[in-house]
Amino acid sequence: MSVSKNVAVVTGAANGIGEAVARLFSRKGYAVAILDIADRGKQVSDEIKAGGGDCVFWKCDVASEKEVASSVEKIMHMHGRIDVLNNNAGIVLVRPLDEIHWEEYQRVVDVNLGGIFLFCKHVIPVMKKQKSGSIVNMGSVSGHVGQIDHSLYGATKGAVIALTRALAWELAPWNIRVNSVSPGSVDTPMLRSDIRIEGSGSWSRERPGASEHGRCAISSVKASLPAPWSGRDRCNG
Ligand SMILES: NC(=O)c1ccc[n+]([C@@H]2O[C@H](COP(=O)([O-])OP(=O)(O)OC[C@H]3O[C@@H](n4cnc5c(N)ncnc54)[C@H](O)[C@@H]3O)[C@@H](O)[C@H]2O)c1
Repeated sequence: MSVSKNVAVVTGAANGIGEAVARLFSRKGYAVAILDIADRGKQVSDEIKAGGGDCVFWKCDVASEKEVASSVEKIMHMHGRIDVLNNNAGIVLVRPLDEIHWEEYQRVVDVNLGGIFLFCKHVIPVMKKQKSGSIVNMGSVSGHVGQIDHSLYGATKGAVIALTRALAWELAPWNIRVNSVSPGSVDTPMLRSDIRIEGSGSWSRERPGASEHGRCAISSVKASLPAPWSGRDRCNG
């Protein structure tokens, strides 16, 4: 067991924003644990290791308590601490509400909100013992403003922001910070699938400022992690 390095856990880091966050933490000298359902997590982990970083990838469905609990156990066995938990994994469903099936509703809620609940539930006892830690949850601009066909997704993100605010108060006595980040449009596999569904294939790349938003989202994550405050949502939509 290595106890010398700070440890960052990033869910949904096989792609998109989570991948960028995992790479950033590695560059900052953290040991990184990537947890994702996608096999691509291994490639990201291998690339980080090839660049001299300390990284592991384990398959984990954030909506499964069994898998979340065993992932946290494995991280603790390997590193003995968790300094940062970035609850990034999420899915989007772009559909009018009356066309969403109950099973789809359950999956979106289970992943976007349940995944954060489960990881917090299993990591908080570790951070409480350490009397330190930082939790960063992925919200979305959809949790702040209404977007057509995003009612369910937006509702989960609004819930994430509310959970973050309350948890920040709850965990302050243990010196654990809890914040959320609400990106606007970031050019990732999720955004591309979102746009394909909406059937307007070109706006994201051509929309003025789209790539700037992408940069902003990453810098928001970066800025939020070491920030001295807690219970805030950094929204840049
Ligand atoms: N891209 C955007 O414009 C945007 C905007 C606002 C918020 N967000 C949020 O940022 C986060 C990351 O989004 P992204 O655009 O990088 O998405 P992405 O689809 O590119 O990546 C998400 C990752 O999460 C993983 N994942 C999905 N379900 C999972 C599960 N049950 N267990 C473990 N891993 C799972 C996927 O395999 C994928 O690797 C999400 O929470 C998303 O809602 C994204």
